[in-house]
Amino acid sequence: MKYLAGFIGSGNMGSALAQAVAKTTCPNEIAVSDHSKKKAEDLASALGATAVDNAEIVKNAKYIFLGVKPQMLKKLFKEIAPLLAERNDEFVLVTMAAGTSISEITELAERSCPIIRIMPNTPVSIGRGIILFTANENVADTTEFCEMMKMAGTIDEIPENLIDAASCVTGCSPAWIYMFIEALSDGGVKCGLPRAKAISYACDALIGSAMLVKESGKHPGQLKDEVTSPGGTTIAGVHALEKKSFRGTVMDAVTSAYKRTLNLKK
Ligand SMILES: NC(=O)c1ccc[n+]([C@@H]2O[C@H](COP(=O)([O-])OP(=O)(O)OC[C@H]3O[C@@H](n4cnc5c(N)ncnc54)[C@H](OP(=O)(O)O)[C@@H]3O)[C@@H](O)[C@H]2O)c1
Repeated sequence: MKYLAGFIGSGNMGSALAQAVAKTTCPNEIAVSDHSKKKAEDLASALGATAVDNAEIVKNAKYIFLGVKPQMLKKLFKEIAPLLAERNDEFVLVTMAAGTSISEITELAERSCPIIRIMPNTPVSIGRGIILFTANENVADTTEFCEMMKMAGTIDEIPENLIDAASCVTGCSPAWIYMFIEALSDGGVKCGLPRAKAISYACDALIGSAMLVKESGKHPGQLKDEVTSPGGTTIAGVHALEKKSFRGTVMDAVTSAYKRTLNLKK
């Protein structure tokens, strides 16, 4: 049985990407595997895909997604490199491992082959994510790949030397944004709003504000100024945030994540 896409690792990101691919691809063209057979079976049954072992994916999938943590890659490649060596049909390795370059994956694969390095974020599972990608010279054309991934959200090609920095803004930020939503709704609850309404309003405020930045093309600082009337309520909140170094703290989050990305395999 041949598959268009095979996902090794049915964890958070492997399953989010498999869900996106299942919207553009016939489910029987998707195979999934995992250390935990049950995890792979649960994902396969949710998608109508097939749960197999790693070897089956490496032998028979055109796009082989490597959905394991960067620290687990060495072990995985020990198992799959001999199988990759036997392949003489067309295949593409798709790596999503943070902080792991295409040349490192080539070394682990022990052969030159087409590799697409992606940096996704978890909202791809609902079609509102971002997939940044860069391909090596062995990938002749990325049209089919982009078509397969199009229901994930925004797909954007980026030079490999920028992908680690970009990943901190796209891949890590959902966690920080969830913290912000939680904090905003906590504030609402403290002021008497019911929890469900507070969370819902915080989400809508965030989505709407982000869309306004994108659609107006205005700098976020200008939009902030437009909300803050002199002596008003919003500038009082801006002052409270700035007293606690809100922007500096967010910048520190990005640079801390970046530093960690560069040392991830240690
Ligand atoms: N999560 C994100 O938001 C995010 C964003 C961008 C990029 N990524 C990248 O996506 C990759 C996966 O991250 P994740 O968050 O999805 O991790 P995860 O939730 O831990 O999923 C990884 C899965 O792969 C399994 N696994 C490990 N080694 C395996 C092997 N040799 N064969 C088969 N299955 C194996 C793990 O099983 P065990 O738990 O039993 O080991 C686990 O179920 C990482 O490289 C990460 O850098 C993640």
